[in-house]
Amino acid sequence: MAFSDQFLEELRSRAGLVDVIGRRVKLQRKGREHQGLCPFHKEKTPSFTVNEEKGFYHCFGCQSHGSVFDFVMETEGLNFPEAVEKLAGEVGMDVPRDTPEERERQKKRQTLLEVVELAADEFERTLRMPEGRPGLEYLQQRGLSDETIKRFRLGYAPEGRNRMKTALARENVDEDLMIAAGMVIKPDDYGRGDRGGPPRDPYDRFRGRVMFPIQDRRGRIIGFGGRIIGNGEPKYLNSPETPLFQKRNTLYGLHLATPSARKDETLIVTEGYMDVIALAQAGFPGAVAPLGTALTEDQIQLLWKIVREPILCFDGDAAGGRAAAKAAERALPHLKPGYGLRFATLPEGQDPDDLVKSGGTNAMQTVLDEAQPLSEVLWQLESGGRMPSAPEARAGLEARLKDQTRRIQDGTVRAHFSRLFGERLWPNGTGGGSWSGNRGGNRGGNRGGSWRNNQTNAPNVHISGDQARRHLDAVEIRKTALLAAMINHPDYFDEMAEALGTIEFSAVELDNLRQQVLNTLAENPGLDSAGLITHLNQSGYAVILDRILSPDDNGHMFFARPDAERDLVLSGWRESWRIIRSEELVLEIEEAKRVSRENPSEEASRHLRMLMQHKLALMAEDDDAQTGT
Ligand code: UTP
Ligand code: MN
Repeated sequence: MAFSDQFLEELRSRAGLVDVIGRRVKLQRKGREHQGLCPFHKEKTPSFTVNEEKGFYHCFGCQSHGSVFDFVMETEGLNFPEAVEKLAGEVGMDVPRDTPEERERQKKRQTLLEVVELAADEFERTLRMPEGRPGLEYLQQRGLSDETIKRFRLGYAPEGRNRMKTALARENVDEDLMIAAGMVIKPDDYGRGDRGGPPRDPYDRFRGRVMFPIQDRRGRIIGFGGRIIGNGEPKYLNSPETPLFQKRNTLYGLHLATPSARKDETLIVTEGYMDVIALAQAGFPGAVAPLGTALTEDQIQLLWKIVREPILCFDGDAAGGRAAAKAAERALPHLKPGYGLRFATLPEGQDPDDLVKSGGTNAMQTVLDEAQPLSEVLWQLESGGRMPSAPEARAGLEARLKDQTRRIQDGTVRAHFSRLFGERLWPNGTGGGSWSGNRGGNRGGNRGGSWRNNQTNAPNVHISGDQARRHLDAVEIRKTALLAAMINHPDYFDEMAEALGTIEFSAVELDNLRQQVLNTLAENPGLDSAGLITHLNQSGYAVILDRILSPDDNGHMFFARPDAERDLVLSGWRESWRIIRSEELVLEIEEAKRVSRENPSEEASRHLRMLMQHKLALMAEDDDAQTGT
């Protein structure tokens, strides 16, 4: 059975290579790629890489290589159509039946692509002809270089009712196809002479406009936006929705922006075509825009496939503010650990295009650097930027923030938001117990347990002094297990030594032992566990060594035991290492909060935000690791 390219492409993108493989292989993000232990051959150090961008996995050990479909075929013993069926089922897509109608539709779609591509060529060509002068002059007057004009394939639609129609007819395109591609409009009363007038012919949709081709993710042109030159209505005219062109899941500029956005982890969402183009020209190539509508959920998901925190940079006017608020509302339910939105604030009355013109690259960079996280924007939206002093007003704000927070589906992120808001509303634990407790008591509609933050597996971001002490003990026990694992499995020196070099025990004798272990192993490559233990015993560490190697102390840290299965040693070790970093961050965050409470400053809150961010990233890493098997 044949599947269309479009269908397979959509399936590929919805399923997500990393998501699919991550269910079988524990993957870790390494720059632009993910790495893990190859599922196709036995190995101890990861040589299996997954590249979402390129859509391929590759193993440098056994040379296995393929797409998401190959992976499912290989790991589940399926043939191609079966693998497609399975993946489609998982992401809720219907597999198109191979009917004659479907084949016809498909053929037509191929040709629709050809038609819009021909049209784009024609617009581009016309821009460089004498009759394209108004268009070229307009673009130049808006400051666009020739290079930019070419990069975005800008063009010109001349005045006249039949220019495109004639050009396409010359290429043997049927009139029906021109209409289906949105290039030509068929008047309602076409062919009916009964209104007295002569039958009206189909005519060009775009006339006397500068043309902005709109590309899909793969860079294929699927539609157009056309700007009027000078004043007039509508300012921008877009292609109608066609089988090719759906505004809801398209972002202007995405194809061109993706490589640099991935590289710099910076993806800027603006409101307008001209903003995208002006930003690219000013040195911000990672910019995109929705197509004149509010940012949709599909578009937000699309952005998150490229970076974790896209920056919304909407116009500095009331409409821009409303658009930002709407995007925040839409994103809220779908937040997941490590993924969010940032909101940049532009000077009053300016859009990004204006800003790079008036203030240059630096002004724009500053605006991006100062972008606020979603939690902050939500707070601003609900509080109007002021903390109400009257208790009843504060309770009102609390209720609104809770309503918002409750919409977050992910427990970890929800817990994070509620703690943040709870602490802000009632600093130093004054009142507002229901933010962190599990009592109900808040207004109706409290769906089962949405406030039971302490019950979620979210690491505690807010903890009391007592808890902090217990935390510390737990961290020490884990660190001890790391040390024990090193002593029992010295052949993992390369994998473990660096991390072990950075942890410090508060107990001096333990810390001395740690350093002694590292030094001994560094100086004696190949030394085995028994040899190491003998050496340590002779160096005066017998008592403490005996204690930390006794099963009582590390019995529950399975990976540290001498008889632990080899594969488990390393994975358990990594897991523990991640938890330690995360717990230490909790303490750092506590400290940063205290500093910021007692001595509020921009610097202090920036530091705190940085730690929080760090924490979210670590939590995401956690999640990634947990979805592996
Ligand atoms: P703006 O009016 O903010 O566009 O509309 P802009 O990019 O700043 O335009 P310039 O600088 O005046 O050329 C933002 C976006 O909204 C859509 C377009 O996608 C535009 O880029 N829009 C706007 C329309 O679809 N139709 C319109 O009539 C106006
Ligand atoms: Mn503008």
